[in-house]
Amino acid sequence: MPYTVFKDNREFIKALEANDDLVTIQQEVDWDLEMGAIVRRVCEKKSASPYFKKIKDYPGFEAFGAPLATYKRLAIAMGMKPDASVPEISNEYVKRTTGDPVKSILMDKKKAPCKENIWTGKEADLFKLPGPMVHDGDGGRYLATWHFVVSKDLDTEFVNWGMYRQMVFDEKTMVGPVLPFSDMGKMFYGKYVPKNKPMPFATVIGCDPLSGVAACAPSPIPEDEFTGMLMGAPVELVKCETNDLYVPAHAEIIIEGEVLPDIKIDEAPFGEYTGYRTSPREPRTVYRVNAITFRNNPIVTVSNMGVPTDEGQLLRSFSLGLEMRKLLESQGIPITGVFMLPESTHHLVVVGVRPAYSGIASQIANLVFGSKLSPWFTMVVVVDNETDIYNKDEVIHALCTKCHPIRGIRKYEQAPGTPLYPFADPEERKWSRGSQVLFDCTFPLDWPKASIPIKVSFNNVYPKEIQDMVLKNWKSYGFKD
Ligand SMILES: Cc1cc2nc3c(=O)[nH]c(=O)nc-3n(C[C@H](O)[C@H](O)[C@H](O)COP(=O)(O)O)c2cc1C
Repeated sequence: MPYTVFKDNREFIKALEANDDLVTIQQEVDWDLEMGAIVRRVCEKKSASPYFKKIKDYPGFEAFGAPLATYKRLAIAMGMKPDASVPEISNEYVKRTTGDPVKSILMDKKKAPCKENIWTGKEADLFKLPGPMVHDGDGGRYLATWHFVVSKDLDTEFVNWGMYRQMVFDEKTMVGPVLPFSDMGKMFYGKYVPKNKPMPFATVIGCDPLSGVAACAPSPIPEDEFTGMLMGAPVELVKCETNDLYVPAHAEIIIEGEVLPDIKIDEAPFGEYTGYRTSPREPRTVYRVNAITFRNNPIVTVSNMGVPTDEGQLLRSFSLGLEMRKLLESQGIPITGVFMLPESTHHLVVVGVRPAYSGIASQIANLVFGSKLSPWFTMVVVVDNETDIYNKDEVIHALCTKCHPIRGIRKYEQAPGTPLYPFADPEERKWSRGSQVLFDCTFPLDWPKASIPIKVSFNNVYPKEIQDMVLKNWKSYGFKD
C-alpha cells in the first residue's frame, strides 16, 4: 500500500508551496555566493525553502535550497501531517523501514524524464551546470551538495547510494572526500584501488526527497530498496548511458563517469557539517565525467552546511539515532527511545532507558560505540524513563543533576572518528581518530531507597486529584497557554 509520497522533487516543491513552506524567488540570483548566502540564512532562521527561478548565467536552470532542513519538511516528504511531532515521525520511519526491502523496478529509457537531454563527449561540460560557490572561502564551486553517488561493489551485486560532496575541478573532473569507513570508501579504497581499476559512478542531483533521506541514512539495506520501504512503493530506475549503473528515472540531473584509482587532486576547504571549516585543502578522490543527462529546465538542489540546522545535520541525526534505536532494541535492552539532537551536529545521542539492572548505561555505550555508526558521534547521554528524551530542558537538567562529574562519566579512547571534528588536534584529524564519552544520568540501583532524591515537578510531587483540579481550572485562573 503506497504512502502519500512524491515521485520527484517537482511534486515535493508543489507540496511545500501548498503548505506555505516555499518562497519562490523570481528575481535573478547569482550562483556566486548570493544563492549560498540565502540558503545559509534560511537554515539559521528555519525559514521556508527557497526556490530560485532565475540563476545568473544559466538560463533554463532553476535551483531548490534547504530541501529538508526542518522536521516539517521531513514530515511532508513522508506524506505525514506537516506538524507531526518528532516522536511521531520517528515511529513512522522505524515502522516503514522494518520488514522486507522493496525491490526497485526498471523504466524504459525512452520514458525516463532524466534522459530528456543527453550530453556526451565534449558536450558533457560541468561548467554548463550552475554549480554554486556555496560559502565564501570554499575551495571551488560545489555542484553536488544535496545529491548522492551511486557505485557498485567490484565482486558482488551490492550497490551503494551515499552523499559525498563534489567540487568542480574542470569541465570533466570533480573531486571530493570519501571517508575510508563509508560504504563507498570501503569498496573504492578496499577493492578498486588495489587492482588499479576505475570505479564507475553516477551522481544523482535533484532526486525525490525520500531517496535523499535514504542516501544519507546509515542503512544496512541497499538505499534504493530502503527508499522503496519509505515510499511503500518501488523506486523507478533507469540504466546509465555510459556504464551499467542504475539511477532514479525522475531525478533532475545525472552525472556519469569513473572514479580514478591512481590520481588525487586538491579539494576544499568547505563549510562542513560541524558548522566549521575544518579540513584543509588536500589531495582527494577524483571523478572523471563521461556523460551528463538531465530533465528539461532542471532544478539543482543546494544544501548549505554550516551552523545548525541544515538537512545534513537534521537527517543524519534523525537516521543515526533511529538505527541506534533498532540496534539496542534488537539486543533486548529496555530502552524507551533514542534521540540525537540536530543542534549537536549529530555528535550527541540521548538514550532513554528503564534502568533495570546495574551497568545498563555502560552496556548501551559499549553497543553504540562498537557499532558501524560510531565514527559519527562522540557523546552518549543515558537518561532514565523519568526524563523526556525529546525535551532539551529535561535532558540538560538530568545531565547536570544525575550524572556524577567523575563516576558518571566514562571515556573511550582510540576510536575511529571523522577528520572533521573541530576539537580534534591536527594529528587526530589526519588519522581520523576519535574519542568518545558516556554520561550516565541514572541513579545507581544499589543506593538505599531513602537516599534517592525525589524529582520536584508538577507531575511528580502532587496528588493526582490536585493535578487534575489545577489542569481543569487552568484557563479559569486566567492563564492563556
Ligand atoms: C550533505 C552531506 C554531505 C556529506 N558529504 C560527505 C563527504 O563528502 N564524504 C563522506 O565520506 N561522507 C559524507 N557524508 C556522509 C555520508 O553521506 C554518509 O556516511 C552516508 O550515509 C554514507 O553512508 P554509508 O557509508 O552507510 O553508505 C555526507 C553527508 C551529508 C548528509
